[in-house]
Amino acid sequence: MPLNTFIENAWFVAGRSSEFPVNQPKGLQVCGKPVLVWRTGDGKVVSFDDRCCHKRMPLSEGRILSDGVLECAYHGFCYDGAGHCVRIPSQLDQPIPTRAKLRPFPVIEQDGLVWLWPGNPAQIGEAVPPRTPELASPEWHSHMFDPMHVPSNYVLLIENLMDITHFYPLHDGNIGDIEQSKIPFDLVEEKLHGVQTVKTIRRVQGYKQPPFMAKWFGYPVVDRWHTHHMMSPGLTRVELRCAPPGRLGEAPVERGYVIHHSHTPIDGTNHTWRLWVSTQSKEVTADIASTFPVVMEEDRWALERQQKMFAYDDAGYHEVYLRSDKALLRCRKILEEMERASRAGAAPAAAQKVA
Ligand code: FES
Ligand SMILES: [Fe+2]
Repeated sequence: MPLNTFIENAWFVAGRSSEFPVNQPKGLQVCGKPVLVWRTGDGKVVSFDDRCCHKRMPLSEGRILSDGVLECAYHGFCYDGAGHCVRIPSQLDQPIPTRAKLRPFPVIEQDGLVWLWPGNPAQIGEAVPPRTPELASPEWHSHMFDPMHVPSNYVLLIENLMDITHFYPLHDGNIGDIEQSKIPFDLVEEKLHGVQTVKTIRRVQGYKQPPFMAKWFGYPVVDRWHTHHMMSPGLTRVELRCAPPGRLGEAPVERGYVIHHSHTPIDGTNHTWRLWVSTQSKEVTADIASTFPVVMEEDRWALERQQKMFAYDDAGYHEVYLRSDKALLRCRKILEEMERASRAGAAPAAAQKVA
């Protein structure tokens, strides 16, 4: 079974707001499409097909002129913030063809993130991007790691996050150990803003923390509450709270983090992984910021290798499912259903890409 498809009709993170300064157009690939993201002179983020409607030159290679239009670097077509061609320098004496405009992609900027809908706008319905309140709150100290290119389908990252029994052996000795893999979990499903979500909740008492967690939070043994929440195809939220045994919920001693993971398909076998950690202590956030990249690299290493194995024929091979796969299997099913609906609702050309 090749794993090389994605949902096109969903909100995905294009980047954090600061990645898009005013009048510095940026070219991305999202869901197999060339995407231009441009914060115009009035501060609004807009997004279009990155291909100039003249001869497909990437408009993200162009420049902004003094009157605020985006000039294509090849023959100079000029576009306004609505994606309409407003000037063709080589034939100013002629009317501009009515088809000289760019396909727009819907954009929502919230909580310091820019979200993009790469599919058919008519399919948005009630879907809105999930909120990420800690990223916008002055009471939280957040750090964003460098965006990571992962050569795997984005679903493998979601599955990685929803089944943390991989903490042993993949993260053994930093954030994981075999005891964590034995912690049972509850599964909670709910529909949020038109999207079916899946959450695991792991509660444990008297747990001896792995080295990184003991260092970050200062408690070698804790009671702990730990959740992983696939909030949409584009975002998974992790929340951890720990305290000395018997003291969970006591504000002065409880510590922990929120980690937001965004997983944006580049194409069927590549995605961009963004990860933000938020804590209520500047020092703890800084400590995690400096030590966590080794954990991310371990995941990237595994996902890359796992993806390569999907290229082989499945004859004679089958996956085995454990208790711990329950959440992951629900996520797969939900994503498959969304992908089917996405295909059905996509414009014909887009549907071919998803198939
Ligand atoms: S390709 Fe853009 S103006 Fe010709
Ligand atoms: Fe991991």
